[in-house]
Amino acid sequence: MSKSDKPVPVLAIDGPSGSGKGTISRVVAETLGWHLLDSGAIYRAVGYAAGMAGIDLSDAAAVTRCTETTKIVFRAPKDGGETHVIVNGHDATDEIRTETCGAAASAIAVIPAVRAALLDKQRSFRKAPGLVADGRDMGTVVFADAPYKVFLTASAEERARRRYKQLKEKGLAVTLSTLLREIEARDERDATRKVAPLRPATDAVIVDTTGMPVDEVVARVLAVVQSA
Ligand code: DC
Repeated sequence: MSKSDKPVPVLAIDGPSGSGKGTISRVVAETLGWHLLDSGAIYRAVGYAAGMAGIDLSDAAAVTRCTETTKIVFRAPKDGGETHVIVNGHDATDEIRTETCGAAASAIAVIPAVRAALLDKQRSFRKAPGLVADGRDMGTVVFADAPYKVFLTASAEERARRRYKQLKEKGLAVTLSTLLREIEARDERDATRKVAPLRPATDAVIVDTTGMPVDEVVARVLAVVQSA
């Protein structure tokens, strides 16, 4: 195989909500100079679009049609800063981050045809020099051939605390106990669904980030790529 035939490397970072995947994936992608896929944002965008269209989220056929027709664009500002998520022409960057949208994303994510419809979009992010892919099934399904796989986890209490801090900083009204309940409900649904359930790939390095500072988690994840 010539050098140019080598597949673009992927670092799959999977884990439950609030495990720190978002922050860690962003920092690791910047450090490596690789592209970044926030696959949760895609599921959130579809959940948002379905909600805006008044679609019953348990109507698999209608949600699948909505998935196939929703236009999702990631726009990175030229001056750096947060990537904007444009859904059918509307900047929904903040709206998709609400817990309501997270729950909608988790609900539509159980529909096999929705997951299938999103595969190509996710795989289109695999571009040289490499991709850091953040999600639930990056290492098990979407990029099952990824040479590097990490599964980040943390206790539900710690994940709820992190989410609380994040949402408070955005000025959103939330309580810790509600967040903990929502996180546990979402974990349960994500881990028990029939298609692409949340679970570590057999070849993933598992990192429990409970009580671990961000820079230490980043160092552990970078070591997976750099020591290979
Ligand atoms: O990572 P997140 O919290 O933004 O994801 C929101 C929901 O989207 C999550 O609860 C389940 C779903 N999801 C998924 O099923 N598969 C992915 N690869 C990413 C997210």
